[in-house]
Amino acid sequence: MDQNQLKQQVAQAAIKFVPEDCIVGVGTGSTVNFFIDELAKIKGRIKGAVSSSEASSQRLKQLGIAVLDLNSVGPDEVPVYVDGADEVNHQLHMIKGGGAALTREKIVAAVAQQFICIADASKYVTIMGNFPLPVEVIPMARSHVARELVKLGGQPEWRMGVTTDNGNIILDVHGLQIAEPVKLEQQINQIVGVVTNGLFAARRADVLLLGTPDGVKEYR
Ligand code: A5P
Repeated sequence: MDQNQLKQQVAQAAIKFVPEDCIVGVGTGSTVNFFIDELAKIKGRIKGAVSSSEASSQRLKQLGIAVLDLNSVGPDEVPVYVDGADEVNHQLHMIKGGGAALTREKIVAAVAQQFICIADASKYVTIMGNFPLPVEVIPMARSHVARELVKLGGQPEWRMGVTTDNGNIILDVHGLQIAEPVKLEQQINQIVGVVTNGLFAARRADVLLLGTPDGVKEYR
């Protein structure tokens, strides 16, 4: 089974978490693209979606799924948020933002009642940090934030040529061994000029659907 088949498997498995007549929170990335395709098959049974990126919004609309403004949606109207991860550990903490959509992902995840993480087995790690941690930064604060990230033990690298949907830049932080994800998430968010960072630990996933050659494994 190749990686795309594993992604498709978890995308299909996530559909059972989508209740009738609801608004679905939709993440970003190649795994989520498979989920959007699955969602399109049941579009008559949902009210629509709230989306975490321009890319996902475009795909949703192309497939005939209504994309709603998050500000027009009540706190109880989004029962699930489905998204991928770049790394996920056994506590269901994640690194996200490989596709630069981390801030909007965190916002939609914060509104949703349940976070369903869909990932292929290659994303499951013991200690996070091998995947460089993405940090969204206000452009004029780039050098300041980079210096502060070095003080925290990382080696930040400017993701050249990338502007987020919010008009900001991304610093990818290499060389971190993330032993305390909740603490590090908070520390980085406290640096002036940081919009948010790709650690999803304070708000972790509620369910992980992991695609393996032996089938989909479910962790909570
Ligand atoms: C987007 O910014 C990311 O958080 C993605 O959810 C993450 O990079 C996983 O993407 P893939 O499903 O493409 O691996």
